[in-house]
Amino acid sequence: MIRFIEDRETKSSIARQILESLTEWFEVEESREGYINDSKDWPFFAYYDGDKPAGFLCLKKTGDATMELAVMGVLKEYHRKGVGRRLFAAAKDYACAQGYSYIQVKTVRSGMYPDYDITNAFYRSLGFRELEVLETYWDEANPCQIYIMSLKSAVQTIATRHSYRGKFLDEKVPREDLMAIASAGIDAPSGCNKQTTDLIVVDDSEVLDRIKSVIEPPVAQTAPAMIVVLSRKINAYRDRCFAIQDYSAAIENMLLAIVELGYQSCWYEGHITDEDRICDKIAGILNVPEGYDVVCILPVGKAADDFHAPSKKPFIERVKFNSWS
Ligand SMILES: Cc1cc2nc3c(=O)[nH]c(=O)nc-3n(C[C@H](O)[C@H](O)[C@H](O)COP(=O)(O)O)c2cc1C
Repeated sequence: MIRFIEDRETKSSIARQILESLTEWFEVEESREGYINDSKDWPFFAYYDGDKPAGFLCLKKTGDATMELAVMGVLKEYHRKGVGRRLFAAAKDYACAQGYSYIQVKTVRSGMYPDYDITNAFYRSLGFRELEVLETYWDEANPCQIYIMSLKSAVQTIATRHSYRGKFLDEKVPREDLMAIASAGIDAPSGCNKQTTDLIVVDDSEVLDRIKSVIEPPVAQTAPAMIVVLSRKINAYRDRCFAIQDYSAAIENMLLAIVELGYQSCWYEGHITDEDRICDKIAGILNVPEGYDVVCILPVGKAADDFHAPSKKPFIERVKFNSWS
């Protein structure tokens, strides 16, 4: 579980315990001690496995609109278990609630050291985007990559999302972007938190080709990646099943993440769940087990064609305040 730590000595003791075990990233004693000492003054989030702190993350204010992810560390045996993501989610919620618009983070630029390449990929998969590289901020052997994330773009993204049915550019979608999109899907609300939606992300061109070959009439034929949405009919309580609502929320989240990251998509559900049951053929190709229904495919890729917003009914026809009349 994630805890917000306020006690200064607890903060520095957790920071010491974790940073001293991560010598690949924090081998320089002076800077490690700096983080341990400074962490006492920073908003501090710790991940606990039972009573044992296994990871932590600190934020610091760098401007009126911006917080910096100042330092984070997760014990090696907890790597690749979602601890960093959970810590960051808590920190992001905190920064949003405090009214900040951006989070920045600095690290050694990709291409210098394998351990830092992993760090860069991790930040990108969280949704960070490159802002600038400062070649001599630390020193020439450690060029400083600054990443930035906007915390207030949801409304903007919603306004710019439209169904895209055109051709896609022949460009692979990086795994970290696909992970960020899929994470947006599984972060969606679900009735009684039953989490009835699962995803299969397809970016292998052979598998994609097999899926595309069963879509008739053809759609998404040039998509370099696809997210196949699976749903399970599990009751939330008594005989109430919210599986449709659950996967709809997941799909909308993913559509927004797709647009936010510079890609386009379309919610293809009707097309694949009609009488010809393309969905079942896709399920067969992907070895989807019994009890899971393929309900939708979302192509993911960069648009090669122009597209326009479809016309929508006027606001006042659909939205009222306080009463229907
Ligand atoms: C449940 C559902 C099923 C959909 N199925 C399809 C589909 O099979 N094929 C398609 O081209 N668009 C499909 N769409 C996309 C809608 O046609 C599209 O959202 C609508 O025309 C409004 O356009 P917009 O998304 O650009 O706002 C579907 C959307 C929803 C919500």
